[in-house]
Amino acid sequence: MSITIYVPCDSSAVSLGADRVATAIAKEAATRGLDIKLVRNGSRGMFWLEPLVEVATAKGRVAYGPVQPGDVSGLFDADFTQGGAHALGLGLTEELDYFKKQQRLTFARIGKTDPLSLTDYVENDGYRGLKNALAMSQEQIVQAVTDSGLRGRGGAAFPTGIKWKTVLNTASAQKYIICNADEGDSGTFSDRMVMEDDPFVLIEGMTIAGLAVDATQGYIYLRIEYPHACEVLNAAIATAYKEGYLGDNIQGSGKTFDLEVRLGAGAYVCGEETSLMESLEGKRGLVRFKPPLPAISGLFGQPTVVNNVISLASVPIILDKGGDYYRDFGIGRSRGTLPVQLAGNIKRPGLVELSFGLTLRELLYDFGGGSASGRPIKAVQVGGPLGAYLPEAQFDTVLDYEAFAAIWAVVGHGGIVVFDDTVNMAEMARYSMEFCKIESCGKCTPCRIGSTRGVEVMDDIINGRNLDKNIPLLRDLCDTLLNGSLCALGGMTPYPVLSALNHFPEDFGINAKATAA
Ligand SMILES: Cc1cc2nc3c(=O)[nH]c(=O)nc-3n(C[C@H](O)[C@H](O)[C@H](O)COP(=O)(O)O)c2cc1C
Ligand code: SF4
Repeated sequence: MSITIYVPCDSSAVSLGADRVATAIAKEAATRGLDIKLVRNGSRGMFWLEPLVEVATAKGRVAYGPVQPGDVSGLFDADFTQGGAHALGLGLTEELDYFKKQQRLTFARIGKTDPLSLTDYVENDGYRGLKNALAMSQEQIVQAVTDSGLRGRGGAAFPTGIKWKTVLNTASAQKYIICNADEGDSGTFSDRMVMEDDPFVLIEGMTIAGLAVDATQGYIYLRIEYPHACEVLNAAIATAYKEGYLGDNIQGSGKTFDLEVRLGAGAYVCGEETSLMESLEGKRGLVRFKPPLPAISGLFGQPTVVNNVISLASVPIILDKGGDYYRDFGIGRSRGTLPVQLAGNIKRPGLVELSFGLTLRELLYDFGGGSASGRPIKAVQVGGPLGAYLPEAQFDTVLDYEAFAAIWAVVGHGGIVVFDDTVNMAEMARYSMEFCKIESCGKCTPCRIGSTRGVEVMDDIINGRNLDKNIPLLRDLCDTLLNGSLCALGGMTPYPVLSALNHFPEDFGINAKATAA
């Protein structure tokens, strides 16, 4: 029987030594005269086990991890190529609790397949959505996406079908699809994983979007800090062109869709869709006034769909299995699944794709295993650097856009960053203000000036100076930022600042009673 061994090529695994492990396995197999097939798959998303080596057996793939080059010869001695017992043995990969309890729709192939093998992609349900879309009218495609209940996974949770319908209904000789792959939020990596580990699903999703709204040109706006994703995307795009999945006459349909990767130079605000378009046009990333909406007048003044990587990568399964299939996952107005990213001080960091509806507590403890330090979890920040800090008392909140809004928090892109009880939340609030100061595009006064003054006020508070005056001043400033900023960078900075103040007043040198606004 031939032996197939999988060693991930995702940059999380590579940063932990996967390339060296792959080389050691190939060398050891050659020394022992074993004929092996070494596949570089994507990551299963269980980062604490990376590099996670898998071996195909009659019962399924058996996992070993975390493997270092020095473990390789012992693994061969233990007959791991036949699933033999070893101290690093974890059993069948898909029976591992962390993995088994997930509902992987968007991430269905991730970790299983070779990211750059189009054959692997097609054999694992790839391009079925596009095939269906090619047989549908534009209105039917948009309707399927609307029926699915998909809301944008980039942060604002705007219904994707409505955005597409606006672009479809706006007449123009040229329209565009932009994939927002800036992924600037702290503790997030789901976009990166899709691009590195299943690039064709994003290409397929963008192609379907192009067909749906009549856009013939697409751009993936990728952050420059993702060089591996850039390489993989460009290779996958080249294959898709070669095999007739991109370019003119897609799969003999007479339809055209061209796609390019463009690199952003590394500014958080360039993830905001209008400054992203300025940047794509070769200008400084400055936020535009809205209206006009990008769907009416976007890139180069033309109707443009701007969607996050996960939103677009969720489209193929919707077109394959139908809007109702996707809609059946989730709760309330939060339909489908969300790839949650567990990061920060957490024992089992990684990617967990689940239907909306689980509580934060389940995510943090059942999946995450509590803090990595073993100390109590004091707070979590959900939704990136502009998300609120949530205390333990709110860990029973379910993952649902509306439930989070009700506690003045955001789900955002699904990143959860964990902090233990050694963290001082006033310092974190200062950090949020400083982040806004550094990343502000400078277009509007509340954010440009307010964040600078905010850092000064926070310094005074942290040093215990004049708290009676400075706490109300901080609240007043946050009110101005919240209501007077042009975009969510300034507009949401009060979320982390005020949530830290309201939930952890003792870290600001005051008692809860004194903070009442
Ligand atoms: C400061 C700022 C940064 C943002 N960064 C990102 C980002 O990195 N990725 C992203 O998809 N959306 C980001 N957004 C949201 C986008 O403006 C936009 O809502 C999103 O790309 C739309 O796609 P979606 O509907 O699929 O979520 C950001 C918004 C703001 C205000
Ligand atoms: S809130 Fe900040 S980032 Fe947004 S437009 Fe105003 S200055 Fe620019």
